[in-house]
Parts: sequence; structure tokens; C-alpha cells
Amino acid sequence: MSLRHTYTLFAPIYDLLIARASTALRRDSLQRLEVTAGDVLLTGIGTGLDIPHLPQGPCYIGLDLTPAMLRQAQRRSHGRNDIRLHLGDAMQLPYRDASFDAVVLHLILAVVPQPERLLAEAERVLKPGGHILIVDKFLRPGQRAPLRRLLNLFTRHIATRTDVVLEDVLACCTQLHLHLDEPILARGWFRRIELRKVTSDK
Ligand SMILES: C[S@@+](CC[C@H](N)C(=O)[O-])C[C@H]1O[C@@H](n2cnc3c(N)ncnc32)[C@H](O)[C@@H]1O
Repeated sequence: MSLRHTYTLFAPIYDLLIARASTALRRDSLQRLEVTAGDVLLTGIGTGLDIPHLPQGPCYIGLDLTPAMLRQAQRRSHGRNDIRLHLGDAMQLPYRDASFDAVVLHLILAVVPQPERLLAEAERVLKPGGHILIVDKFLRPGQRAPLRRLLNLFTRHIATRTDVVLEDVLACCTQLHLHLDEPILARGWFRRIELRKVTSDK
């Protein structure tokens, strides 16, 4: 089963499972959005639980691999003409280099099988000086976490990875640096991260 199959099955119950527990985390993360105009990409927007927390001003593009999730996001974005939704793959974003002022990666970086590739694509489409907001679950470098690593063998191809080390992923992206790193849930397994893209190639 692929991630698209799983999230097609999840779509009708996703909000029931995730919405309540994640509302404050989304709100706090999106409060850091520094873009008052310009373009913001929400990669893996899912059912659009971030939408009610998006400030007016920028133009938003929400991209997702799963049509069933996007249909829910479509309903949630009703009445807002500043949000466009695209079906697509976060591993091969259909956007030009340096076309977004900010990228939101909520519960997607540690979900996909190749987080390095996803973050490299986010880095590519981000303008110099732009920022990336992440909420997700990450192990610390060197953390053993045997249960989560075992769980990962079962969940990585169907729902999410549970063994991703942010620092390893970040090491692959030379133009991104860590600006904020805060533990938010489950004794620091879930973290709020902000990355910034360097302003020149120095
Ligand atoms: C755990 S959900 C998170 C949804 C949303 N970001 C949120 O915070 O609720 C993961 C989402 O990523 C999407 N997804 C998985 N792989 C993807 C890919 N390669 N490209 C785009 N979206 C993907 C799934 O369809 C699903 O909607």
C-alpha cells in the first residue's frame, strides 16, 4: 500500500483523529509566518487543518498527493480567494526556483519515505531569505529509541516514518540553517522548527 492509498482511506476520519490535538500547534507555528504579502506554499496540505490559521495578505498554494485529502481542503478553503490547491508530488514540486516567500511543512517532512528529497525541493522553491515552518516528530542525533525504530519498519511505507533525525535531513541542504527548534509534544518527539534560507551563495 502506498502513502496515497493510506491517506485516501484516512481522509474521512483524519480530522477526527488529528484536529483537536494539533490546533494549538498549528496556530503557534503559523503565528511565525512573517509574510504579509507574497506567496506561501503549504506542502502536503492534507485536509487543510492549517487553513483557519492562515493570516490574510499572502497568496497561498496548498499541494497534496492525495485527491481525497485535497477535496476536504477544498471545502475548508471555501470563501477564501487567496488559496489555490494543487494535486502534486512534494518530491518534484511543479514550481520554479525561488518562487515562494515561505514554505509550511506541517506533518509531512517525517511522513514521506525520503525527507531529504522533500526538504531539498522546499529549499529550491524558497526565495533567498525566506523561511520554512515545520511541525513534526524527529529523533535526536544518536537517540536509540528502539520502539520507534521498530515501528518504523511497519509504518514507513503506509503512513509515516518514526525514525527521522532532523539534523541528518538538514545536513543535505546547504542553503538552509536552523533558526528555531522547540520541543512541543510527547517529551520533545514533536518539535516546532523554523529554517531560513541564506540570502547569498557566500
Ligand atoms: C499526516 S498528513 C498531514 C496533512 C497536513 N499537513 C496536516 O498538518 O494536517 C500527510 C499528508 O501528506 C500527503 N503526502 C504524502 N506524500 C506526499 C507527497 N509525496 N507529496 C505531497 N503530499 C504528500 C498525504 O496525502 C497527506 O495529506
